[in-house]
Amino acid sequence: MDYKKYIMSVMDFPTTGINFRDITSLLEEGPVYQSAINELAAFAKSKNAEVVVGPEARGFVIGGPIAYSLGIGFVPVRKPGKLPREVETVSYEKEYGIDTLCIHKDSIKPGQRVIITDDLLATGGTIEATINLVKQLGGVVAGVVFLIELTGLKGSEILKDYDVLSLIKY
Ligand code: PRP
Ligand code: HPA
Repeated sequence: MDYKKYIMSVMDFPTTGINFRDITSLLEEGPVYQSAINELAAFAKSKNAEVVVGPEARGFVIGGPIAYSLGIGFVPVRKPGKLPREVETVSYEKEYGIDTLCIHKDSIKPGQRVIITDDLLATGGTIEATINLVKQLGGVVAGVVFLIELTGLKGSEILKDYDVLSLIKY
């Protein structure tokens, strides 16, 4: 399917000079959303995924339905102060300042095969932090999936050692 035609591009959002690729216009189209999830889920299945991990908030919209369709668990990665049990944390540099992400410490078993999901790959900071959390818990990264990959940024470089599927590339 030509998924790209369902992505709206919004100039100068959130700041001047950014051409924002908006996934909400694709999510609004039920059969298109379903088809995208089915493709990503088939990839996850082919990698023998045992659990799906995704960062808030847009990673939930992709990872949750993949986990549901495969009948496997979904583990959220969240900003500090959101997860109630003991967490593992990772901090990473953003354009302005440091961000921290957290995962429940007992959510992944050592050796478990994990599919990591997000809506979009840009600089790769978010996905690298998520990969590091999974590894800190002893999980094995079986694959990484996105709706959108912005190529030409260092994100794809960070993922060069992993099996990656992105349905749309810019
Ligand atoms: C966006 C997007 C990815 C990340 C990609 O999330 O959903 O998670 O940025 O950028 P990167 O590759 O440079 O890390 P955002 O931080 O805007 O949070 P949201 O999902 O809560 O909107
Ligand atoms: N679209 C959505 N999220 C983003 C983008 C974008 O173009 N760049 C960084 N995060």
